[in-house]
Amino acid sequence: MQHSIQPIFDSLKLAGQHHVLQFVDQLDPDQQQWLLQQISEVDFQLVQQLFSQQAPSAGSEVDPTTFQPPVALRLNDPTTVTGFTREQAIDAGEQAIRSGEVAALIVAGGQGTRLGFDQPKGMFPIGPISHRTLFQFVADKIRNLQRYYGSRVPLLVMTSPSVHEDTVHYFREHDNFGITDSLHFFCQNTMPSVDAQTGKVLLETTGKLSLSPNGHGGMLDALNRSGLLDRCLGDGIESFFFGQIDNPLSPTCCPELLGFHKLTAANVSLQTIAKESAEDQTGNIIQIAGQTQIIEYSEIPSDIAQQTSSDGTLRFWAANIAVHIFQADFLRQMAADPDVLPFHKAYKTVPHLDALGNQVQPAAPNAMKFEKFIFDLLPHSNQTTVIEANRSHVFAPVKNHEKAGYHTAATSKQTISDLHRRWLQQAGVQVADDVLIEIDPSWALNPQEVAQHAELPKAVTADTFFTSS
Ligand code: UTP
Repeated sequence: MQHSIQPIFDSLKLAGQHHVLQFVDQLDPDQQQWLLQQISEVDFQLVQQLFSQQAPSAGSEVDPTTFQPPVALRLNDPTTVTGFTREQAIDAGEQAIRSGEVAALIVAGGQGTRLGFDQPKGMFPIGPISHRTLFQFVADKIRNLQRYYGSRVPLLVMTSPSVHEDTVHYFREHDNFGITDSLHFFCQNTMPSVDAQTGKVLLETTGKLSLSPNGHGGMLDALNRSGLLDRCLGDGIESFFFGQIDNPLSPTCCPELLGFHKLTAANVSLQTIAKESAEDQTGNIIQIAGQTQIIEYSEIPSDIAQQTSSDGTLRFWAANIAVHIFQADFLRQMAADPDVLPFHKAYKTVPHLDALGNQVQPAAPNAMKFEKFIFDLLPHSNQTTVIEANRSHVFAPVKNHEKAGYHTAATSKQTISDLHRRWLQQAGVQVADDVLIEIDPSWALNPQEVAQHAELPKAVTADTFFTSS
């Protein structure tokens, strides 16, 4: 569709945002059309409203002294708050995968600014020895779940406009990593970044608005709009495993979590790990007025975060690692209301053009971004099941550049290697602590498959990648 400048300028003027057209005369006709197209897709009224309003958040209007820890199945808890044992859950979860009721949904639309990698984050090499990428970790897992359970496990990858093409191209270039018929990509929406002082939309270049993906909560609307939600429901998918691309140990389609989810007839299930300290920069799973919710770590005052139980452990112990199960019909119901998830504001450092057209590289946060969080669905869930897992089995996030010193590629690789070394040791293999180990899911998907290998070595004395492919 061909856009005309004048009517768009007039409506921008009413919204106080006509500066985004200030360099339009410097653009060629195609560039002008592209800019006008971007502008036509922005709801400036919404942007203004979000800029002016208080940021919503689950805990912010509630007295934090009323927060309660979640009702959760703890790792060392002999009682079963869910009414089911872990063995029963694993059986039920495996049965669900075998029956083709489960799809994996991985969000990979983020910008990865903290990592400082100039390609989609999923293309980051993370295999400690193989250098397999984050995308490969997920794809290899899915292919081998299909092998192990003899069923189809659709993989749905959420991208955003800035990474979509590269992501799809990367998969195609690698023959979709062997996933033949059940791989889908869907693209989330964006929101403009605005100047934190004035609310004016920032320009990235003379012909491009500063746009960023609308948060992992953008998944709900994007999944719905793409038609994939209905298609999955039509194909008999009952539960979606939800994970993030930047955790290579994210337990994709974890049978235990799926099983507890099914047995407890949950709308949403959350896998959690115990925080290492009150300062852990992971979201908090808590209860507010009897409802399980997730709030950001910054939303618990530090004196409350520091509280301990009688055994000396943190009272607010449950960390959100973004490993969830969503019931498909719950998502269908939630997607009917496009405003079910509120926008949150985040202050970020965003390079942009100033009024003279000069590039500005701010040293401190200068801009406001607007993002939706998928866990804001929790207040709508009438059964949320929370299950604790062992941190070292499920959590190796790749968030930061090495200089941050935590949640980096180096820490992630070490955690992967340590876990895979323990799998071998459990099977009776001697492995020194300084030897790097990586196990491809084609060789073993879990410690049980490791133990089934007849030709296991007695000892491993050099860095080794175990693979069958
Ligand atoms: P993060 O919130 O850690 O952000 O995303 P990020 O975008 O990867 O990195 P930074 O903050 O710019 O450094 C957690 C997960 O959610 C996905 C990311 O791809 C990652 O898997 N995500 C985040 C989206 O899919 N879309 C978004 O809009 C935001």
